[in-house]
Amino acid sequence: MTTIRPDSNGSPLWWQSGVIYQIYPRSFQDSNADGVGDLPGIASRLDYLQALGVDAIWLSPIYPSPMADFGYDVADYTAVHPIFGTMADFDALLAQTHAAGLRLILDFVPNHTSDQHPWFVESRSSRHNPRHDWYMWADARPDGSPPNNWLSVFGGPAWEWDGATGQYYLHSFLKQQPDLNWRNPAVKAAMFDAVRFWLDRGVDGFRIDVAHYIMKDPQLRDNPPSSGDGRFIHKPIGEYDTQLHLYDHGHPDVHTVYRELRQVLGSYDGSRPRMAVGEIHLFDWQEWASYYGRNLDELHMPFNFGLLKVEWQARAVRQLVDTVEAVLPAGAWPNYVLSNHDESRIPSRYGLAGARLAAMLRLTLRGTPTLYYGDELGMADVPIPPDREQDPWGKREPGLGVGRDPERTPMQWDDSPNAGFTPANVEPWLPVSPDYRTVNVQTERDDPASMLNLYWQLLAWRRQSPALHSGSYQPVEQAPDDCFVYLRRRADECVLVALNFSNQEQRLNLRAFGEGKVLVSTRLDRAERVRLADLSLGSSEGVLIGLSS
Ligand code: GLC
Repeated sequence: MTTIRPDSNGSPLWWQSGVIYQIYPRSFQDSNADGVGDLPGIASRLDYLQALGVDAIWLSPIYPSPMADFGYDVADYTAVHPIFGTMADFDALLAQTHAAGLRLILDFVPNHTSDQHPWFVESRSSRHNPRHDWYMWADARPDGSPPNNWLSVFGGPAWEWDGATGQYYLHSFLKQQPDLNWRNPAVKAAMFDAVRFWLDRGVDGFRIDVAHYIMKDPQLRDNPPSSGDGRFIHKPIGEYDTQLHLYDHGHPDVHTVYRELRQVLGSYDGSRPRMAVGEIHLFDWQEWASYYGRNLDELHMPFNFGLLKVEWQARAVRQLVDTVEAVLPAGAWPNYVLSNHDESRIPSRYGLAGARLAAMLRLTLRGTPTLYYGDELGMADVPIPPDREQDPWGKREPGLGVGRDPERTPMQWDDSPNAGFTPANVEPWLPVSPDYRTVNVQTERDDPASMLNLYWQLLAWRRQSPALHSGSYQPVEQAPDDCFVYLRRRADECVLVALNFSNQEQRLNLRAFGEGKVLVSTRLDRAERVRLADLSLGSSEGVLIGLSS
């Protein structure tokens, strides 16, 4: 069994103290002027990431795919889509990533393949094909309707009728994304082989797409109706949210799979520790925490999406953090997600000052932060004209605002046309944000007040401060309702974080902490030394204060 322990020198492991940076490969850097980002493009920007101060990059899927869901419909788990480059480009990127002192995490999509994957082509060719049972097939009910009431996350029924085999197949997402049958040992073996393929090449870990979906109720029971608690607080409630999803995912035997996967990963730890972080949208915290495993022998971390579900105010945020801290199994490592390729951009949710506060929050909470490309610039959602819309979810459920294109637009590198993402005469696959002339790496680099400079400072402090990257967390009670204040401490180092979520000035009396030194403020106009008996925070201001212990 592999447990999560610091290495033999007492230092935290790379994925614990480090910061992960998510790259959506289509949108980071185009190197061959086709309007779509690619692997050589990413390689050409590694120096930027190294200087930014992140520790690992996670690439959304780079595999061959018909792109019905932009790569989350995989047609071959052990190859690279030509639009992103070649396997040689991948090997070069990995080598350069490691040479830059960074780690590389790949997206792994176990719940479903593309309907173009040769496995599914065989599976649907006949009921007698040896691969038929690799997917979730079921007979119609006597009246010809689907086997049960399960719904696709992207709208409509989760079952698709297949005339040739005379059966329905399950697709929890698009009908072009049929669900694999993980109870078939051959499926598990083939998928673990794919994992080994990349581990053998040297990747450092995996982000596991909808990790809790892979095991469903074997009896295929109907889901009961729900009172309608939305999946995401920032997305409106769709048809999917009319059910309680008791039976279409998360069957307890999912844990057996992740225990086995952990062993596969653990068998590589001899060279260097590898990791898996699962995308697990669960908000029953006991159930969520169960994915660490009873003996911390399953996923290294389930992503924690809790902050996306609570109101952006001090009390709600603190309550969420305290709940998660309380539910973590002993020795389990926390994490908090504020952004990714499925969520509205942070400034579009909380405003620009709120986004600065959010930067401080997530880089000072206990656990592993994951940034999404462009967060560090303050990139906001980009309105997409209807004729440029790409995301299949948005197209299937028009009017609901569920489309994810606004948060997937090209990275803004400089103030040239197309923001340095692709040459000026090329049309990028999604439009570049109209704010690119001011919101871009080159311009922000020279502006001490920019979001980029704030991220640099926070990342630098986090890296050099054991209290911040691996110390304890303790909320401070003597704070006004609108402020979230906490201590991070390791050995004799102690840092106080004070975050004002309101748009009014707040005065705090934290006399017990004496004096401190302001290390970073989300605003610029601060005296370096502060008396904590009289700490005033401007509207939406966050400060990081070093305390002499
Ligand atoms: C996950 C991915 C999302 C994708 C879906 C289906 O939620 O993050 O982008 O559409 O899974 O694979």
